[in-house]
Amino acid sequence: MRVHVLGSAAGGGFPQWNCNCRNCDGVRRGTIKARARTQSSIAITGGDGQWLLCNASPDILAQLQHFAELQPARALRDTAIAAVLLMDAQIDHTTGLYMLREHRQRLKLWCTQPAYEDLTRGNPLLKLLEHYCGVDWNAIPLEGHAFAIAPLDTLRFTALPLLSNAPPYSPHRDRPVAGDNIGLLVEDAGSGRRLFYAPGLGSMEPQVWDAMNSADVVLVDGTCWTDTELVDLGASRKTARSMGHLPQQGEDGMLSWLAKLPARTRRILIHINNTNPILDEDGPQFAQLRAAGVEVAYDGMDITL
Ligand code: MLT
Ligand code: MN
Ligand code: ZN
Repeated sequence: MRVHVLGSAAGGGFPQWNCNCRNCDGVRRGTIKARARTQSSIAITGGDGQWLLCNASPDILAQLQHFAELQPARALRDTAIAAVLLMDAQIDHTTGLYMLREHRQRLKLWCTQPAYEDLTRGNPLLKLLEHYCGVDWNAIPLEGHAFAIAPLDTLRFTALPLLSNAPPYSPHRDRPVAGDNIGLLVEDAGSGRRLFYAPGLGSMEPQVWDAMNSADVVLVDGTCWTDTELVDLGASRKTARSMGHLPQQGEDGMLSWLAKLPARTRRILIHINNTNPILDEDGPQFAQLRAAGVEVAYDGMDITL
């Protein structure tokens, strides 16, 4: 199995268009050692040239231009994206669907029932796409059994409902229901190798922790360093936890969980908010991660497992 990181930033990207925090200003001016990042998306393949796009980022067109394998050029109109799967119905994970409207077939889309409802009501994007390519929706099962996504037949997928949050426009914002956010366990049927992916993880529930322990690579929520990062900056009144993101710091923070995984597990943070100090590669937080064996995903990162 191979995973290609198309976009490693959280909503807003890095730098964010209207932000002059230390990181955004620093990366624009070149005064800090940091890489610009596009909004959250990865692509997964079993190795047969067919890819699953996980999340359709607002930055998808630039992401596709930077990753030639998604354009195999076998016909006048072509793509190696065989299907799209959404982890939630947030703006940063869904807006790119508009950019796929020229698809020649109906777009194969996998998302949960609550995400589908948000994307046909609060944000009726899937209805709008009916005027273009249209969408064939497949409901992601939430009961914990494995499912296949044709034609990616060598991969087995299991979705885990996560406690996080619904999008701000959703009728269940702050009252999340099972399926508003999922984590994804992907197993290569040939090698038995496993990936756990969860860009929005608000709480370490037992079944999530079990899934992470069973994985060879975890690619998990790296949104904020501290819970009050945005509040302390005066950028927002929202804490990381209230948005459904476990901060890295603190007793119950992501780093303390990652430290308890088996030594063989590759640990990678993704969906990094532009305010997060780990983006500064000369900073003490980045050094702390390195010492703890935790990697920070970047656009173009390619993971073979
Ligand atoms: C989130 O995961 O909370 C989103 O990135 C927020 C957003 O897109 O505005
Ligand atoms: Mn997001
Ligand atoms: Zn910023």
